[in-house]
Amino acid sequence: MKNSSRARISIYAQMVFWTSVILILLMSGVLFIIQSREVRSIYQEKKERGLLMVRYISEMNVRRLILWDLDSIDENVSGLIRDDLAYIIFYDRDGRPVVVSESIAENAEILNQTSCAGEVSPEAVFYSERKVVMDGKSLEVMEIEIPVFIPGSESKWGSVKIGLKLEDVLQRIQRTRMVLLAVGLAALLLTVIGSNLLARRITRPIKVLVEGTRRISRGDFSYRIPVISSDEIGVLTRSFNEMVEQLQKARLQMEEANRRLVQAEKLASLGRLSATIAHEIRNPLTSVKLNLQKLSESEHLDELEKEHAAIAQEGIEQIEKFIKELLTYTRSTVLQRDYFSLQEILEESIKILLPCLQEKEVVLRKYYQPGLPPAYVDADRLRQVFLNVLRNAFEAVEEGGQIEVVLTASSSSERLVFEVRISDNGCGIPEKDWENIFEPFFTTKSSGAGLGLANARRIVEQHGGYIRVVKKDGPGSCFLITLPGIEQPQEV
Ligand SMILES: Nc1ncnc2c1ncn2[C@@H]1O[C@H](COP(=O)(O)OP(=O)(O)O)[C@@H](O)[C@H]1O
Ligand SMILES: [Mg+2]
Repeated sequence: MKNSSRARISIYAQMVFWTSVILILLMSGVLFIIQSREVRSIYQEKKERGLLMVRYISEMNVRRLILWDLDSIDENVSGLIRDDLAYIIFYDRDGRPVVVSESIAENAEILNQTSCAGEVSPEAVFYSERKVVMDGKSLEVMEIEIPVFIPGSESKWGSVKIGLKLEDVLQRIQRTRMVLLAVGLAALLLTVIGSNLLARRITRPIKVLVEGTRRISRGDFSYRIPVISSDEIGVLTRSFNEMVEQLQKARLQMEEANRRLVQAEKLASLGRLSATIAHEIRNPLTSVKLNLQKLSESEHLDELEKEHAAIAQEGIEQIEKFIKELLTYTRSTVLQRDYFSLQEILEESIKILLPCLQEKEVVLRKYYQPGLPPAYVDADRLRQVFLNVLRNAFEAVEEGGQIEVVLTASSSSERLVFEVRISDNGCGIPEKDWENIFEPFFTTKSSGAGLGLANARRIVEQHGGYIRVVKKDGPGSCFLITLPGIEQPQEV
């Protein structure tokens, strides 16, 4: 339970949360330190100003004090009370207030508190803070008191104390806090946005990877996950893609093996069937053929009857041809291989078909790559392959059509591969049938057996090559036959 609920929080959310928390804590700490320092320096400034003030007042009045000219001091004091200076009090050496500014005259609680009543050093300064009520208003006040000594003597005359209003200090502190709060909020906003961007940057490649694996796991092996980062995720993505490629290859190989297996099974049962058919039909067919021949040679037949007999004979020949093709297809023969020139085999096939080609005025173009080594093949069977493909091309073109035969070789992984292309400008083959035409009995011709290409494929595959239809410019179709080359024959 615990695990599943934990798994539901995405990496993205976790990253946003933790980076935000850490940055907020860090920021709060920094802001707090800044604030404390600022407050301390504001107070310090006030204290220094107050000290200067109280020293000034003391020096200004020390002569009057010695002369005990209290009235003139009083006058001077009332002139000084303004701005943040709330009150001034002079105490005599026993701590009794002797001169008091008007503003505080009634406030006994403040008047009677002096820090310099006893023995004090001339440099002593006393600070304190308190709340006072003046003119019915409650005020925060900083009190600063220093002793007053008679110049040139060690004896203390008394002391002087001032009260400074802290209103402005509190306002400044408030303002500082507001500014820091605003800075804090802005930083918080930036933190959240920043951590979001950072998390997105880090989790985006992961998301792409996850999405890709989902697609591939649904069976789309042609999909490759885009590599959008060069870090560990990038490396992972790349090796994942490689793995998928291997998988795809393995799958294709499996499908191919499966196809061949099915083909072999079909072939085996077809073989048994055709052997029976051939046996059951061939014998009676031979006798029909012979009798028909005799009959057609009879003198008693008129022209029309002779024509009918010829048609029947033609039909029988077609059946014979079919049986022959069927037997060739199903009979599993071992290849009789030797070293032959493919060019010569092609030429022989063409030669067989030449009379038909000439009759239909078909233009035949040939190209043989010069200097090709011989191929290790069964010449008879390969001739049959070329003948089947050429005959189909011949049957597909119109009168005066074109057929092209090209023999080349290419090197694939250090090994020579022969390529024979036989193309025509005939009726062409719809792309959906590019595979079907190699199935036995697939034909679009009224008198076709549909075994020519099935046979061709079988022979080519026995040689370790393949045959298939490939795209071509313009009308018609193009067959590509590849055959693996073998090293040069040893001298025999
Ligand atoms: N060059 C070609 N042009 C057009 N169609 C072709 C060509 N070659 C083969 N075909 C098609 O493939 C089918 C199968 O060919 P094949 O196996 O030789 O049997 P068949 O020639 O007896 O019909 C043909 O019926 C035809 O529809
Ligand atoms: Mg054919």
